[in-house]
Amino acid sequence: MEATKYIWMSGKLVPWADAKVHVLTHSLHYGTAAFEGIRMYETAKGPAIFHLKKHMERLIFSAESLDMKLPWSLDQLCDAAVELVRENGLKSCYIRPIAFYGFGEVRVLPTNCPVEVTMAAWPWGAYLGDDPARVIIVKTQRVHPETTVPGAKLSGNYINSMLSVREAVKGGYDEGMQLDAAGNIAEGSGENFFIVNGKTIATPALGSILPGITRASVMQLATDLGYKVEERAIKPEEAFSADECFFTGTAAEVTPIASINDKPMKSSPGPVTKQIREEFLKIVKGENPKYSEWLTYVK
Ligand SMILES: Cc1ncc(COP(=O)(O)O)c(C=O)c1O
Repeated sequence: MEATKYIWMSGKLVPWADAKVHVLTHSLHYGTAAFEGIRMYETAKGPAIFHLKKHMERLIFSAESLDMKLPWSLDQLCDAAVELVRENGLKSCYIRPIAFYGFGEVRVLPTNCPVEVTMAAWPWGAYLGDDPARVIIVKTQRVHPETTVPGAKLSGNYINSMLSVREAVKGGYDEGMQLDAAGNIAEGSGENFFIVNGKTIATPALGSILPGITRASVMQLATDLGYKVEERAIKPEEAFSADECFFTGTAAEVTPIASINDKPMKSSPGPVTKQIREEFLKIVKGENPKYSEWLTYVK
């Protein structure tokens, strides 16, 4: 990971090496942080952040799911991200805002802990590599709506994702796919999941998954390209026999799936995944004016 010059900490840009917190930070002990992962791309009109507002809205939603009141408005958070990437002189990068309870008192309920927000940005390439991913359905079930808030991007939820990907990587796979309590496919440790059959594309319905911003963008894009898009329960057997499967995510972008549980997909990358991936990359690189409102250009 490549260090950049500055990290934004509660309104100030501080040198990368000085961006530190106290060891008794509440969120470090109890997983009570809300965070985001955002990408900025190089375009012909300069760097552009993909769906900046939507990511900051989700950050606020995630924080509010903990009753955490952010001391910064949506506009201030968006402006801070722009200032951060500009002052770091970045052309393309990953942006990581995190809102957390700082040091106040050590007890589970963070009554006297200050809310702090920081944001870092650094150059980052393909998350799952350039090759189609080899996926295994893991034993670790996806977090349940009765035990946490699966739709919020909370650091505590990522114990579940970490156990999932660790299980997969230990077994020699690239990524772990989690099922929900009903045995339906939920998602990857950091990606949403799609299956393709002819002109129909399906993705697991909301409930136990993170409502991915790339997922929503790909659903819109696929609809506009003339595909029928369904949000519904998907059993593993359906994925094994699908024409194609792929993952979406800010980090993973659109990543084709090569195999699930060692069963190779009929084609990978299949023609639909290829088309969606290409069109998605055109959008994020500012090459499709129809979706220009999805980008925030950094002047
Ligand atoms: C568990 C999980 N699911 C799905 C996603 C994809 O979400 P997005 O497209 O908003 O990055 C992510 C990445 O943030 C994730 O961590």
